[in-house]
Amino acid sequence: MNPLNHIAIIMDGNGRWGLKNRKSRNAGHKAGLKSVENIIKASIKKNIKFLTLYAFSTENWRRPKKEINYLFKLLENFLSKKTLQLHKQNIKLKIIGKKSFSTKLNKLLKFAEKKTSSNKKLQINLALNYGSKSELINAIKSLVKQKGKINEKNLTKYLETKDIPDPDILIRTGNTTRLSNFLLWQLAYSEIFFEKKLWPDFNQDDFNKIIQKYKFTKRNYGGV
Ligand code: IPE
Ligand code: IPE
Ligand code: MG
Repeated sequence: MNPLNHIAIIMDGNGRWGLKNRKSRNAGHKAGLKSVENIIKASIKKNIKFLTLYAFSTENWRRPKKEINYLFKLLENFLSKKTLQLHKQNIKLKIIGKKSFSTKLNKLLKFAEKKTSSNKKLQINLALNYGSKSELINAIKSLVKQKGKINEKNLTKYLETKDIPDPDILIRTGNTTRLSNFLLWQLAYSEIFFEKKLWPDFNQDDFNKIIQKYKFTKRNYGGV
């Protein structure tokens, strides 16, 4: 049976869910937050140590301002209400991506990261304003600046995911089969599961089924 430490998720399909069920994309984002809470619970039950959630990409700035503002308001409310609860559950929150948002959101993110920094049960990496290509460029720049030898081990040290093992599983919901600039380096040997359901419909059963399937997948890493 394969060991399982890290699950990464591209939480896609909120907008379509909202249009289909409530006639607004933003309603889908709100509903998507419930799935986030369910999957955090399921991860704890399964004793998973790292859960990485793609919440906003460097490309998502191309969306209408109204939608972007709504998304960040949702996140602000979530952090204001839930940070202490996460802390009580021994959950560590880490942001990957460039933290350049409103003063209020920057503060909430900083506080949540600091408050939960020594927690051990589960680490949630929230990918926010994250893009894998810019992460790699920055890592290469730092490595060159430090005059480090360019090899896999050294490059990994400059990624935002340093100290985090590569994902064992990548899940993308929303019936779309692409990576959308997510963890291009780190996913080199992950098992990928494309899920037809839209993110707000994705539940603990769906999540557990994927884990079950993963556990009995033969991982070759190029061998036989
Ligand atoms: C993913 O859902 C959530 C974010 C990008 C914030 P989408 O908003 O991309 O939903 P669809 O793909 O348009 O349905
Ligand atoms: C990827 O979803 C980003 C997040 C889930 C945060 P998108 O919906 O933005 O991806 P594309 O644009 O369809 O590739
Ligand atoms: Mg999408």
